[in-house]
Amino acid sequence: MTNLVLFGPPGAGKGTQAEFLKEKYKLVHISTGDVFRYNIKNETALGMLAKSYMDKGELVPDQVTIDMLEAEVEKNSTAKGFIFDGFPRTHAQAEALDKLMDSKDSQINAMIALEVDDEILVERLIGRGKTSGRADDADESIIRNRITEYYNKTAILKDYYSAQNKYYGVDGVGTIEAITERLSAVIDKI
Ligand code: AP5
Repeated sequence: MTNLVLFGPPGAGKGTQAEFLKEKYKLVHISTGDVFRYNIKNETALGMLAKSYMDKGELVPDQVTIDMLEAEVEKNSTAKGFIFDGFPRTHAQAEALDKLMDSKDSQINAMIALEVDDEILVERLIGRGKTSGRADDADESIIRNRITEYYNKTAILKDYYSAQNKYYGVDGVGTIEAITERLSAVIDKI
């Protein structure tokens, strides 16, 4: 199996790039944000709980997110590998993912981080908020709170994966095609 963590702050382009990479490398793409939004749309209990955090730009509690991610992986038991987008976002989630991969005699092969300046992130998300209907893109203060959550709780995962020699940083600014090529160069190397 090839298992990748596509990493980066809100608006870095994780979802956009995962769409291309999943086709190219025949991997299953799991976006925890998309799964939460699906549950919100369908008004499930998980969705209602997640919404109360997402609307403020805060992270959903770890155990809720870990349980959901494990269920998504189980649903795709025949996958030849995964692109994890938006997970892990905390140290506890990273440890849970390692345990899960270990239980499948597999591992995370790489964390690839899209590097984009904060002001570009804000500009991208304000632009998307005008048309996407995403509640967490609707207001600049919520967007900035998401970025703050990233620096406070998530950015430290760079150290977690660097310690395992699995961290790769990629410039996330440029055309979508150019960035796909940069990511592919890393994936092809590993
Ligand atoms: P999630 O859905 O993961 O959102 P996010 O991380 O905030 O990421 P985005 O989807 O906003 O950005 P992206 O990096 O995927 O960029 P995209 O390709 O969309 O999470 C939402 C919420 O769910 C969290 O805040 C949290 O509450 C909860 N959650 C999710 N996972 C969780 C977890 N593990 N633990 C706890 N809570 C969790 O692109 C953004 C925009 O930029 C688009 O408009 C796109 O068209 C544009 N764009 C992309 N690439 C380029 C480019 N190269 N040039 C110009 N524009 C570009």
